[in-house]
Amino acid sequence: MKKRILTGDRPTGPLHLGHFVGSLQNRVLLQEEYDTFIIIADVQALTTNFDRPERLAEDVRQVALDNLAAGLDPGKASIFIQSLVPQIAELTVFFSMFVTVSRLRHNPTIKTEAGAYGYTDMTYGFLGYPVSQAADILFCRADLVPVGEDQLPHIEMTRFVARRFNELYAGVFPEPEAMVSRVPRLVGLDGQAKMSKSLGNCIYLSDEPSRVAEKVMNAVTDPARIHKTDPGHPEICTICSYHDAFNQAEHGNTVEMCRAGSIGCVACKKRLLQVLEGFLEPMRERRAMYSKPGLLDEILETGTERARREGEATMEKVRSAMGMDYFGGAR
Ligand code: TRP
Repeated sequence: MKKRILTGDRPTGPLHLGHFVGSLQNRVLLQEEYDTFIIIADVQALTTNFDRPERLAEDVRQVALDNLAAGLDPGKASIFIQSLVPQIAELTVFFSMFVTVSRLRHNPTIKTEAGAYGYTDMTYGFLGYPVSQAADILFCRADLVPVGEDQLPHIEMTRFVARRFNELYAGVFPEPEAMVSRVPRLVGLDGQAKMSKSLGNCIYLSDEPSRVAEKVMNAVTDPARIHKTDPGHPEICTICSYHDAFNQAEHGNTVEMCRAGSIGCVACKKRLLQVLEGFLEPMRERRAMYSKPGLLDEILETGTERARREGEATMEKVRSAMGMDYFGGAR
């Protein structure tokens, strides 16, 4: 039996090259070896976007297409929509009985996010979303959860929930393990912070070639370099960090040429563009393929159907463990 992994994204906008380097690329490899579930966490997106649900439908589609474009294969990975798996909501309620408010308040990721959003108070749903995320992972009894470092407190919560449930009632859940991505965060086009939608410094997987070219050609490089023969400082150059992330084979050489002033920024950017297009063009082709009328809906319906079946199998175990299978399970 293959081990099962579960991971996914909040649909709050299109995915970018930072997501590709940090998670999507890895998912594509993992699906060959593991039974893979990809969650599109639309309920979790509501924790911060409850006042604009009208954007969700489009964002869900785009995030699904981003995953498929990156190379997730619906024949190998089940891509599903969180809100359409009612067993996740059911588990969230049961789990919430034994998770204390202070445990949630101490969650470092909750604290950081609350700070970033400037929350002085928090909604019940926001404070409690790590419990819901535990249900996202445990409904299908996943073994492994590929995530970035920021998600570790949520995986700890998931392990706590699994352990506590098992000791309170009966051994239903495996204690899933995080598979942490060690890839350094991709810096944004501004060179100031990590690539992030809220900072407007992204190259999106869905950007047209002309848009990608414009973004790359306008990126700030080494401000001290005025003439192309001036020696450059690749260690502070955004473009150089992209060569590092996407063009490992030529990275050392590019750094040397930059330091020596033997390659200009324009030539360096053009080379990067070629390399990026080597990733992006096949993604555009797959995106177009999966955008054929009806196909994406069918993929999401099939993935969600499979998730529901797994969720129902888990709920039967849960009800039986808790003695809540009132009609002897013959429902
Ligand atoms: N919290 C994750 C993020 O913000 C998204 C997510 C929701 C998730 N449920 C999950 C990730 C379950 C891994 C497993 O990116």
